[in-house]
Amino acid sequence: QSLQSLHTFSLPASCSSLLRITDPAQLYDHDFSTPFYILGEGSNSVFLGDYAGTVIQMANRGVAIEEQANHYVVCAAAGESWHALVMHLLAQGVGGLENLVLIPGTLGAAPIQNIGAYGVELADVLYQVRGFDIASRTMQTLDKAACELGYRDSVFKHALKDRFIITEVTLHLPKQWQPVLSYGPLKTLCHETVTPQAVAEQVMATRRSKLPDPQVLANAGSFFKNPVVDKAQADALASRYPDMPSYPVDAQHCKLAAGWLIERAGLKGYQRGGIRVYERQALVLVNEGHSNGEDLKAVICHIQHTILTQFDIVLEHEVRLIGPQGEITIQEAHY
Ligand code: FAD
Ligand code: EPU
Repeated sequence: QSLQSLHTFSLPASCSSLLRITDPAQLYDHDFSTPFYILGEGSNSVFLGDYAGTVIQMANRGVAIEEQANHYVVCAAAGESWHALVMHLLAQGVGGLENLVLIPGTLGAAPIQNIGAYGVELADVLYQVRGFDIASRTMQTLDKAACELGYRDSVFKHALKDRFIITEVTLHLPKQWQPVLSYGPLKTLCHETVTPQAVAEQVMATRRSKLPDPQVLANAGSFFKNPVVDKAQADALASRYPDMPSYPVDAQHCKLAAGWLIERAGLKGYQRGGIRVYERQALVLVNEGHSNGEDLKAVICHIQHTILTQFDIVLEHEVRLIGPQGEITIQEAHY
């Protein structure tokens, strides 16, 4: 079964079998003792080559919106498209997700890395998730605290990795809508008169100006996480590079912009095979086609090595890399 069209980075790859879940009850019948990989729309998963396991694709559908005194309760199936849900809610007059418009992928994958953009993250609106606990073979509900959401992080990358399949997500959206206009290009909007639609349009225009549409040019969004470093290191770098963007995280730490570091290191446009550092956003790698996992691994290693040498910063890849036996880190994939 080919996976090339099932992940947005679109490298040539296959799996031994594909199981499409349209009804969570199917999960009770599956034997999880052999290797498996849970997949949504594959916009954060890069298959480096053939995968010798079963890909379980979450494709269940359904959205319910309930109005309560102070907020809307939105309960939807994991296989729903995130962007389509945001647009559907906006059309119903329900705001709160507009900063997260145009993020590709499924609703079920949104809690995995706590999707975030333009000053808002899933953690701001998540109420609970429901899913299949593989060890006990039961459906369980986890509240937001149990999801342990952080920057591009959650319990599903740690204690519950490969152990919990999200089937349904519930969000709470306050009826008293409050715009979040703190992030760069949204600062020009007027707090008093702005609407959720206007925020969505500004976010969509900004995203379209710098991020490639995976339907047109294969990519997986930001390839690396923005690194969090000690304030002392950030201050030392800032004195060397006064134009370096830096965002305070807490009293001791700052988050730096990996895209800026990659651009500053002269890697914009760097190419090997058909894999290239995107010209309009250096944090994005694109696949022009005629490439394979080896080209990609070489590009990742070159970027990581250059950033370590020039800035003494370790860049971690944000996307999930899948090798022949399952998920791997680039260190494990290194040849
Ligand atoms: P997949 O790639 O299919 O899966 C991602 C991970 O979640 C995998 O580890 C998978 O095993 C696991 N998973 C998926 N579904 C389930 C489930 N139901 N239960 C348990 N585990 C599951 N992300 C951001 O945060 N902010 C952005 O602004 C952003 N912009 C992007 C722009 C582009 C052009 C692209 C291509 C990607 C962008 N991303 C962004 C990354 C991506 O959109 C998100 O990570 C998204 O949540 C992935 O959804 P998916 O269904 O495609 O996940
Ligand atoms: N920058 C450069 N050169 C570049 C890219 C960025 O100088 O080539 C600078 C920008 O000028 C800006 C700063 O770096 O000063 C930050 O850039 P941007 O606003 O584009 O955001 P980002 O930090 O590169 C993060 C997320 C995105 C998310 C945006 C908007 C991560 C890893 N990425 O990117 O998420 O959409 O902020 O909030 O946190 C994704 O996860 O796939 C993704 C696209």
